[in-house]
Amino acid sequence: MQASLTVTTNFSAAHRLARPDLDYDTNRTVYGKCARPNGHGHDYLLEVTVVGKVDDQTGMAVELGALHELLRVAVIEPFDHHFLNKDIEYFATTVPTAENIAIYIRNILQAQLPSLGVTLQRIKLHESPNNACEVFATAAIKPERAESARESLAIA
Ligand code: NI
Repeated sequence: MQASLTVTTNFSAAHRLARPDLDYDTNRTVYGKCARPNGHGHDYLLEVTVVGKVDDQTGMAVELGALHELLRVAVIEPFDHHFLNKDIEYFATTVPTAENIAIYIRNILQAQLPSLGVTLQRIKLHESPNNACEVFATAAIKPERAESARESLAIA
């Protein structure tokens, strides 16, 4: 039996929305006050939904402590109390909108969550009480498929 499980975590970070190839007036037109030169901060709330097989013995799809530890190392430590444009190389050239941050986090988690035996289903990044961005996992090998692939490899 498969189940999806959602956990929530949070971090605070600063960003500035502006494309380096555009002048200030154009950035102001596109991004409004978010283009102001010295940046501003948000208290981000991150929901992460994973899917996994419910273990017959434990009744759990994944151990919650292990999941939170993975989120802490993969997302919270790199993001919390950082200026995203300067502290995360990816955002030196990619404007750190909620959408782009969500996609970046999605890509990290999608790569790392299989180590816990679950796959990413979606994340929802709340940037403020007024806006949130939801992105879904792209097609990927599910753990049980990887397992059967290994099994057939072992048989071969
Ligand atoms: Ni902002």
